[in-house]
Amino acid sequence: MTTGISDNTIMMFVIHDALRRDAEQLARGVEHRDMHDPSRQTAFLSGWEVFKRQLQHHHDGEDRLLWPLVRTYLPARDEENALLSEMEQEHERIEPLITSVDTALRNSDAAWLGEATVTFRQELLAHLDHEERDAVPLMDAVLTAQDWRAYSRAQRKATGFKGAKEFFPYILDQADPDRAAQVGRLLPPLLRLLVSRAWQPRYAQTAHWN
Ligand SMILES: [Fe+2]
Repeated sequence: MTTGISDNTIMMFVIHDALRRDAEQLARGVEHRDMHDPSRQTAFLSGWEVFKRQLQHHHDGEDRLLWPLVRTYLPARDEENALLSEMEQEHERIEPLITSVDTALRNSDAAWLGEATVTFRQELLAHLDHEERDAVPLMDAVLTAQDWRAYSRAQRKATGFKGAKEFFPYILDQADPDRAAQVGRLLPPLLRLLVSRAWQPRYAQTAHWN
């Protein structure tokens, strides 16, 4: 089965799917969380920590590397530049909402946590939909395969080996099989092997969310 998504942008969709999955896990966890069960509490917090790290890393890479790269192709295209500014503004709106969830969790404030989670989830899901609907087609149209490779390289450099160990299992966890297969085909054989034989089993040893 094909996904109907280009090889250049498949990673973007798989990352977004993982972020949506965790927005649901967070909302479900906040609703049903047993604050008195230490092992569930630990699992919930480790799910949140990974989610937060991966979301911030994803947004940071787009803000520092991807949008500036796309802008180099759009010198006189006001409408497209405005769209990229909207992407940046949405990231700016989401950042304090992450802090709000974080602070509510640290203070064990259930009411605050409930409200913060609803707002954060709404903003994040709206942003991901907006990006996929309008910004991804724009990127697909203007960026070359070489640009995408350069972006991936820069992202890998920013996170290093340790980051990759978490990133691949994170995005492939419960991923759509066709999308995961497409990502797998794009990875160098040695990396594919590392992910499936070492990093995914290790990642699965830690309980995330529950
Ligand atoms: Fe994105």
